[in-house]
Amino acid sequence: MTAPMTNNSEIVAEFKDFRKSFGSKEVHKGVSFQLKKGECLGLLGGSGQGKSVILRSLIGLEKPDSGQVLIEGQDIVPMNEEQLIEIRKKVAYVFQNGALFDSMSVYENLAYPLRAHTNMQEDEIRQRIRELLAEFGLSGNEQVSPAALSGGMQKRVGLARSIIMQPKIVLYDEPTAGLDPYNTIRIQEMILRLKAKGVSAIFVTHDMPSAFAVCDRIALLFEGRIQAVGTREQLEQQPDSKLTRFVRGLEV
Ligand SMILES: Nc1ncnc2c1ncn2[C@@H]1O[C@H](COP(=O)(O)OP(=O)(O)OP(=O)(O)O)[C@@H](O)[C@H]1O
Ligand SMILES: [Mg+2]
Repeated sequence: MTAPMTNNSEIVAEFKDFRKSFGSKEVHKGVSFQLKKGECLGLLGGSGQGKSVILRSLIGLEKPDSGQVLIEGQDIVPMNEEQLIEIRKKVAYVFQNGALFDSMSVYENLAYPLRAHTNMQEDEIRQRIRELLAEFGLSGNEQVSPAALSGGMQKRVGLARSIIMQPKIVLYDEPTAGLDPYNTIRIQEMILRLKAKGVSAIFVTHDMPSAFAVCDRIALLFEGRIQAVGTREQLEQQPDSKLTRFVRGLEV
């Protein structure tokens, strides 16, 4: 029997029939989708459709009323905080504003998760930070306070901090929102660089050029369900689908 050399369709994360209400508002009515190893999956949908709740649920910051959230085949919904700490080492959430501590330098911000969650020695930490900053064109900002950086630089440093633990999955919540074209392209490059290393990602955005620049597949969340998932080519072949209409700014 011949086995394939690599399994391109390995599933690293999966939502199964995820349902969640806030008060009387049923936001997720059975959301199901799969994230494959090494892919970047775009998650689109209008404001308030529940995209950020989906991302937060992937690190256990929200729990569904019913349904499963699988990370590498393990349902994280019943996990306690201690177990979720282990999940959060594998799955990084990139906060919208970078979520950096203004009272610490950029270097201290980057060192913080390594000191808190690993046994790395200080010289290894320094090496990791130096390499990461160099890789993403951020060298020279080590001693600066995040407050002194532009919004675009803060987002890029925030992204760097999110991935310093070398996660297998990265969740991006509108990482290019409000950025100028220069910083938007730099963020796209960071995402593509991580993808080239085999990191899987979910990319929530309203920025269609960035979605098409970095995503392998795109999914549309609408009225509580994933309505469609497809590659750009598949989208273009279905000009009247909900997903294509959404992307083109037409009424879905
Ligand atoms: N903690 C909460 N308490 C009450 N309602 C909430 C809470 N979190 C989310 N919601 C509601 O759930 C819905 C989905 O919210 P979510 O933030 O996931 O939307 P979104 O798709 O990310 O929107 P946007 O594109 O504007 O960021 C919204 O109607 C929101 O009001
Ligand atoms: Mg959101």
